[in-house]
Amino acid sequence: MSIQKIMVIGAGQMGSGIAQVCAQAGFDVKLNDMKEEFFARGLGTITKNLSRNVDKGRMTESEKEAILGRLTKSLDINDANDVDLVIEAAVENMEIKQSIFKQLDTIAPAHAILATNTSSLPITELAAVTNRPEQVIGMHFMNPVPVMKLVEIIRGLATADDVYQTIEDMTKKLEKVPVEVNDFPGFVANRILMPMINEAIYTLYEGVATKEAIDDVMKLGMNHPMGPLTLADFIGLDTCLYIMETLYEGFGDSKYRPCPLLRKYVKAGWLGKKSGRGFYIYE
Ligand code: CAA
Repeated sequence: MSIQKIMVIGAGQMGSGIAQVCAQAGFDVKLNDMKEEFFARGLGTITKNLSRNVDKGRMTESEKEAILGRLTKSLDINDANDVDLVIEAAVENMEIKQSIFKQLDTIAPAHAILATNTSSLPITELAAVTNRPEQVIGMHFMNPVPVMKLVEIIRGLATADDVYQTIEDMTKKLEKVPVEVNDFPGFVANRILMPMINEAIYTLYEGVATKEAIDDVMKLGMNHPMGPLTLADFIGLDTCLYIMETLYEGFGDSKYRPCPLLRKYVKAGWLGKKSGRGFYIYE
């Protein structure tokens, strides 16, 4: 099947990035959020990113305008009634996502594929609340979306082969690299990344080294672009904790136990870059 019209649900960091890359690739995109101000913030980020590309000579002003012209504001989920694909990038909460998927199932055309950008929640469980589980799939983009090449494509238990193929082809059109993954807690990216970040937090908690030293070891010793504690702040400590909880609950293995220091920071409201303070302080 061919995809032309897309709705992205959630105009936050991930949703706005996904909407940007889809519009850049020539798709018509409805960017949906609950409030005008959330949409406006997302559009502001996209405009800033595109302007930077113009300044750097990577695109012309008229290309930028054409991309923005393919983006439409949506404040009503019923606007999904004529799209071929929905990519949901709302908050990481199973109840909220299930409620969105239930609504989408009744609103979106029968042929439409329902994708979620969840970082670790089970695709199969989301699919089960719809009457089209074979058309439900995971598309896990990495942050920052315009920069990172990977998209994990996650098959739910019932995802049909042609749906997988359509999404894989579409991902390539976004100039991203699709990687096929099965539906297990944390998929691949976060099953490997989050225990590393959690271990870095334990290393700090146990006083093995300072936060700067821990980050330097991984940056300079392993060539990671960011140290794990900086990366945790960048991702959001609430998100890191949520993913660790999903791994812990999903596998029932103590090796995934979230570090008490991570819990403490989240309870204190130290959520990382977005709240101005995490392991580091942000002005
Ligand atoms: N949006 C768009 N473009 C961005 C950006 C953003 N938020 N942040 C950086 N960029 C662009 C910059 O504009 C710059 O592009 P040009 O100079 O070519 O115009 C380029 O990226 C490099 O940026 P900087 O020079 O400012 O900084 P940097 O070299 O340190 O790179 C980085 C920034 C790309 C974020 C790099 O530090 C990095 O790769 N960090 C690791 C990111 C990572 O691991 N992401 C995955 C997180 S896990 C996840 O997303 C999954 C999950 O479920 C939790």
